Amino acid sequence: MADSNRLIIFDTTLRDGEQSPGASMTKEEKIRIARQLERLKVDIIEAGFAASSQGDFESIKAIAGIVKDSVVCSLSRANDRDISRAAEALAPAQRKRIHTFIATSPLHMEKKLRMSPDQVYEQARQAVRFARQFTDDVEFSPEDGSRSDMDFLCRVLEAVITEGATTINFADTVGYGVPELYGQMLRTLRERIPNSDKAVWSVHCHNDLGMAVANSLAGVMIGGARQVECTINGLGERAGNTALEEIIMAVRTRKDHFGLEVGIDTTQIVPTSKLVSQITGFAVQPNKAVVGANAFAHASGIHQDGILKARDTYEIMRAEDVGWSANKIVLGKLSGRNAFKQRLDELGIKLDSEAEVNAAFSRFKELADRKSEIFDEDIMALVSDEQQSHDKEHYQFVSLAQRSETGEKPHAKVIFSIAGSEVSCEGDGNGPVDAIVNAIETQTQSGAELLLFSVNAITTGTQSQGEVTMRLSKSGRIVNGVGADLDIVVASAKAYLSALNKLHSKTEKLNPQM
Ligand code: KIV
Ligand code: ZN
Repeated sequence: MADSNRLIIFDTTLRDGEQSPGASMTKEEKIRIARQLERLKVDIIEAGFAASSQGDFESIKAIAGIVKDSVVCSLSRANDRDISRAAEALAPAQRKRIHTFIATSPLHMEKKLRMSPDQVYEQARQAVRFARQFTDDVEFSPEDGSRSDMDFLCRVLEAVITEGATTINFADTVGYGVPELYGQMLRTLRERIPNSDKAVWSVHCHNDLGMAVANSLAGVMIGGARQVECTINGLGERAGNTALEEIIMAVRTRKDHFGLEVGIDTTQIVPTSKLVSQITGFAVQPNKAVVGANAFAHASGIHQDGILKARDTYEIMRAEDVGWSANKIVLGKLSGRNAFKQRLDELGIKLDSEAEVNAAFSRFKELADRKSEIFDEDIMALVSDEQQSHDKEHYQFVSLAQRSETGEKPHAKVIFSIAGSEVSCEGDGNGPVDAIVNAIETQTQSGAELLLFSVNAITTGTQSQGEVTMRLSKSGRIVNGVGADLDIVVASAKAYLSALNKLHSKTEKLNPQM
């Protein structure tokens, strides 16, 4: 198995990515991302942690019922309740995986779990044995594996393989690994564990020292791993996880070195990156490899000259191969419902009913009246907006009027609905956004703290819609709200209300690693 040249891509954007503060997603948002991951052709989608909340359970169940081509997976701690919950959520899946884990480092066992190594060993074995009752596809992760004692790891991993674990995922939970050492540890484990050839070995790295991708590739090349766990845009707790797009393009571009095959449709990389960024409100830095806005922008004169003479002077990948297309005008004012629906299909956006398509189409018409050129990014933003209002959110934006003048204090009047009833409110502020937030707060009195405010142009040109992200914190919870509009003050009001909706939904989610 370990000799195979096929690298299995395990995407954990919807589970480990979502553990990033503020990145929590609704069921509908997760379904949209899962559909896109399937178009990207990832092998396994870790759809969540079923036991963490009813919301996560429902999302996994829905994804399990929809996704056909990828294996759908749920995380579970190493106990019967979590595993049963995962199995229940995964029941509709055509192909399912249960991923169970327990910490194995001395620090985690003693301080976090307060368990002896023998107890951890027993619990790991029993968990895998129990999980095998529900599926033949069981993954086991020794959490904080890279800081664990090698003898103990060998003992635990040999036992879980004997119990039927088919994938062993060597977790660098805190991003402590260094490529050569991490790769070598994995290699030693595979060499020392007598039944290691009965499992696929996997890498799972965090980016605290900026080495998640390098560590993962060392795990593959030195350690012989044939599964990489990763997230879109490297989303994840703290500094994030291994970035899927970087792994794929490294392996593809340097096939001479890696000699590995991946099943990914690389032209779906950028659309997936944009979708995840737009839904979570985590903007992609411009100089981010592969998916950053500047990744293929040859700004310096010398480089442009070289590119014009021969592309490969400075270009090792082609922008179109990863799904960058020059902002294409796809639709306009005269486009009809059929053209709009066809574009939704091409973008992989499935709306649940004809009524939803009609509602999205009338939003599109409104936008096309104000903006002559409609791009794919505009369509994606309006579908997100439409889904938020369709979800019968507690707070919904209706309209606003805002006045700013040099030397005058900005003033805003906002109309929005609270549980279906319209309210009108006014406020002043130091700037226009401060004024709308103050106006909304006269009604909502959330007292939330604004941690982040960012505006991005969705497409190029001054006609572009602005996409605003607002990150709010209240009583230890952090949420992101996203809103888009041609008017960035309106986009800000929508983003603020969207964040308040997330705070209002009070979905408490258990962090699996706490
Ligand atoms: O980082 C980690 O250890 C994890 C495990 C649950 C696999 O995410
Ligand atoms: Zn992790």
